[in-house]
Amino acid sequence: MLILGIESSCDETAAAVLRDGRFILSNVIASQVAVHKKYGGVVPELASRHHLENIVPIVNAALQEAGLAQHALDGIAVTQGPGLVGSLLVGVNYAKALSFSLNKPLVAVNHLEGHIYSVPLELARSEIERGVPLTDWSELFPALCLIVSGGHTSLYWVQDLGHDETQAGRFELVGRTRDDAAGEAFDKVAKLLHLGYPGGPVIDRLSKKGDPHAIEFPVSKISDGKLDFSFSGIKTAVLRYVQTHLQKEVDQMSARRNEENFHDHLPQPVYDLIASFQKTAIEMLFDKTSKAAELRRPRSILVSGGVACNSLLRSRFHEGFKSKNSIPVYFPSPILSTDNAAMIAAAGYPRLKAGRYAGLSLNADVHLKLHE
Ligand code: KG4
Ligand code: ZN
Repeated sequence: MLILGIESSCDETAAAVLRDGRFILSNVIASQVAVHKKYGGVVPELASRHHLENIVPIVNAALQEAGLAQHALDGIAVTQGPGLVGSLLVGVNYAKALSFSLNKPLVAVNHLEGHIYSVPLELARSEIERGVPLTDWSELFPALCLIVSGGHTSLYWVQDLGHDETQAGRFELVGRTRDDAAGEAFDKVAKLLHLGYPGGPVIDRLSKKGDPHAIEFPVSKISDGKLDFSFSGIKTAVLRYVQTHLQKEVDQMSARRNEENFHDHLPQPVYDLIASFQKTAIEMLFDKTSKAAELRRPRSILVSGGVACNSLLRSRFHEGFKSKNSIPVYFPSPILSTDNAAMIAAAGYPRLKAGRYAGLSLNADVHLKLHE
């Protein structure tokens, strides 16, 4: 079964073709990072305008790379939400028009469900590459799934994937951020330090130059016993630290920020600040996930979303869960961690097989929920 996935929920226009829900034939992404860089974050109006420009060439590129004509497709999967309304509408309307003109079924996918699918999809990708038998995905479940990106920080208990019934009861929200998403905290700290956008990759790299124990930042305390996250406290603590101890250095950095190799010649206390921030943010993610794992005893832990690219997060989770209770942790490769359409096609596949089609009345849903 050949399925075309379309993703446009935020600032990436993406299309991919998958065979039987796990063989990636193509995976094409047009990133808008260069467009939004100078604003230090995604500008919704610009994002939808660029999706409009990109959607046709990106879908065509995905079909071409897969070596397929449009009529060879068995169906189309599109991200319905959550996301930015103007961005989502471009993908949803294009997918509806394509479905109508080709007379091929359309299925709607929750973006977060896509992120969860990106992890077993990565497993299949690496198994295909190594020529080893494919793992039955149900062996990974029930699983704890942490989705950490610029827009989301949520921890789900997932019973299983790929069943044909509706998603009712399969996803339980165990914890979520009460304020900023983790990626947003990385982006805001980078902005404060004039390090550019997106902040996560540069903070990850520069943290290696600093002492993560130099500054003790407060760890957010959620007092009602819930496994929720909070990242606004650490963001404010970094701001206060800069104002009190490093304002002169940071002002000088602002003046030098366009110099070549600027990132590699920062004052040592700034590297220490970056490393200490990263360590605290990752520890907060590990701590809640680890508490949830103790309570629920999952068969695996799946981490996805842009922040899942973070090198400290990967080593902390691998080591932490290996030494603690020997739970395997899985991450997608960076290309499947950040927003992509292969994960949307993978999540849409069981729905397409089961004939749970979306009609042409499908609309974008900005606040679409995964759980009940
Ligand atoms: O999943 P994604 O591409 O888009 C959504 O937000 O949905 O995630 C982007 C986020 C940004 O906030 C970016 O700073 C963060 O992921 N990110 C990272 C790293 N790479 C990307 N955060 C920490 N460490 C990284 N290596
Ligand atoms: Zn995402």
